[in-house]
Amino acid sequence: MDKDIKILSIESSCDETSAAVVVNGREVLSNIIASQIDTHTKFGGVVPEVASRKHIEVISAVVEEALEKANLTFSDMDGIAVTYGPGLVGALLVGVQYAKSLAYALGKPLIGVNHIEGHISSNFIQYKDLEPPFVCLVVSGGHTFIVYMKDYGNFEVMGQTRDDAAGEAYDKIARAIGLGYPGGPKIDKLSREGNPDAIKFPRAKFHEESLDFSFSGLKSAVLNYLNSMEMKNEPINNADVAASFQKSVVDFLVDNAMKACKIKAVDKIAIAGGVASNTCLRDSMIKAGEKKGIKVLFPEPILCTDNAAMIGSAAYFEYINGRTAPLSLNAVPNLKLGER
Ligand code: KG4
Ligand code: ZN
Repeated sequence: MDKDIKILSIESSCDETSAAVVVNGREVLSNIIASQIDTHTKFGGVVPEVASRKHIEVISAVVEEALEKANLTFSDMDGIAVTYGPGLVGALLVGVQYAKSLAYALGKPLIGVNHIEGHISSNFIQYKDLEPPFVCLVVSGGHTFIVYMKDYGNFEVMGQTRDDAAGEAYDKIARAIGLGYPGGPKIDKLSREGNPDAIKFPRAKFHEESLDFSFSGLKSAVLNYLNSMEMKNEPINNADVAASFQKSVVDFLVDNAMKACKIKAVDKIAIAGGVASNTCLRDSMIKAGEKKGIKVLFPEPILCTDNAAMIGSAAYFEYINGRTAPLSLNAVPNLKLGER
């Protein structure tokens, strides 16, 4: 049997500092996540400069804990992987510099990973037998993509948002109805007490064949609704607003995802990213999939939000295909999916 490949991976693209040890891209020995949510909650969202400083404070301890938990040392590692984009430039730089220093000092290969490819790869950890091709819906705070994954490391973007990301829309509406940051989980919970058909919010219309999304019109429609109710001095049922908003988002995501599966004639769709934890999205996707004979896959919540294990998984497939990075690797805040 071939030797196991052990990768130490680092993720610091936004507000989580994370390090993991992953074997052969599928088996997670450790996945340490230091979240900065409590710090940013005070400001109602992520403050980039604060995020960078927090990453610097904890990165060494997080990496050490990942190795300790895996019961391994630096010298056991076959490579050092790091997210180098997309994300906040200052936050990315902390992880990239740290990983480059480690790779140089240890004389180990460096592997640069695209954060979105990491999210997609979280499904390889959850489903040990999952292999491409499949369609993946990536829904996070910064991104909304429908991707056809032809092969490992080979992606075709079929649709994407033209403005706000799905998670961003959740966060903005949560703020408008006073739920605070991060809004996604709070809207998810409150919606269970509301009627999703109480208010009809519009959906952006594109050419019939387009698989793109737009959520900024929906956001304006919700804000207009809240304003007009206030002007009329009428009571606002926040649970109904949350449930109706969520239905508009989820229906849009599910419809386009199902269209993508039909176009590519695949029988499995994976969901990834922070919003993939959403219970309404999971339920609606499963229901739609059952009708069309499509299996719906999603990682457990800890693998949906930002974490280094998903980066270690994506890195493995880069590594075995000989795609390592030079020590001149830099942070690329606007890195495109599939770009190398
Ligand atoms: O993937 P992620 O951790 O970070 C980015 O790469 O952006 O995603 C964070 C996003 C936030 O917008 C958060 O509100 C959203 O995921 N989110 C959810 C849920 N849990 C997290 N949105 C809807 N329902 C949830 N249960
Ligand atoms: Zn993410």
